Amino acid sequence: MLRFLSSVADLWIGRNRDPSPEALAAVGGRAPAVVVTGASRGIGRALAMRFARAGRDVALVARDADALARVAAEIARAHGVKAMPIALDVTALDAPAALDAALRAAGLYADVLVNNAGIGLAGPFAENAPEEIDRLVALNVTALTRLTRHALPAMVARGRGGVLNVASLGGMAPGPHQAAYYASKAYVISLTEAVAYEARGRGVRIAVVAPGPVNTGFHEAMGAENALYRTLIPALSPEAVAASAYRGFCVGRTKIAPGVVATVSAVALKLLPAFVSAPLMGVLLARPERPR
Ligand SMILES: NC(=O)c1ccc[n+]([C@@H]2O[C@H](COP(=O)([O-])OP(=O)(O)OC[C@H]3O[C@@H](n4cnc5c(N)ncnc54)[C@H](OP(=O)(O)O)[C@@H]3O)[C@@H](O)[C@H]2O)c1
Repeated sequence: MLRFLSSVADLWIGRNRDPSPEALAAVGGRAPAVVVTGASRGIGRALAMRFARAGRDVALVARDADALARVAAEIARAHGVKAMPIALDVTALDAPAALDAALRAAGLYADVLVNNAGIGLAGPFAENAPEEIDRLVALNVTALTRLTRHALPAMVARGRGGVLNVASLGGMAPGPHQAAYYASKAYVISLTEAVAYEARGRGVRIAVVAPGPVNTGFHEAMGAENALYRTLIPALSPEAVAASAYRGFCVGRTKIAPGVVATVSAVALKLLPAFVSAPLMGVLLARPERPR
């Protein structure tokens, strides 16, 4: 069924497609791959697994080479596709070129780019270390922007493929106690929706997924595990998020909120004025003095 809906969506998405023979020749002899950043664990791993289950070759990007090799072997074994680990810090200045070179050496090219790698940062903004804010912006905003800008022209020229960005439900509201993180995800949503409009009808899918809390090590890593939202808001599994994102991407949706809670919250956050949503989020995101 999904395959059928995806083919129907293709007709609409590619209504003004104009593939350039040069662009197609440039990737001649190489196989299309789904490139997933942050694929060594969590949501990225689940997304790579989901695309592989659909028969897509995948390239897995993260910094930890050993973890990547393990996930690549697992994916190849489970789904019989090519799973290429590429150990890379996507915030490095030469990351787009290094990624291209690694793909070329493996006989692949980026048909779909999944910008998933991201970090959080908890605590009052004025108390966040400036270097940590820089690191967050470099990964969540700059690297995603540069990789997208690097990959998109060739995708449009080929008239196929696309970009799936991983934002967060948090990108739809101000996030006191996770201010820079929420703002970075608002950027991702805004950028994706605008680029999706610009590329409409050209054969590429441009989508953003905005999950609510997901059960990964992400919250603990930023020291937010004891905040109220972790007990109050039910968290999804990375696999459920990946399944929803994959479905939405296939049928050509631009903004995907996985699960009932995220879908309802997305609507509510759109309606609520900031003078209501800011204190509400502030209560949910504040870290208690003493662990609960
Ligand atoms: N968990 C949630 O509740 C939740 C909710 C909404 C949205 N999200 C978003 O979903 C995405 C994934 O989150 P997650 O929960 O799966 O996080 P996670 O489990 O912490 O995984 C993060 C992934 O990013 C990679 N990474 C980090 N820095 C990198 C860098 N500089 N270059 C390349 N790879 C890098 C990590 O691998 P290495 O450390 O080996 O590089 C890892 O594979 C993030 O964008 C996050 O903001 C998460």
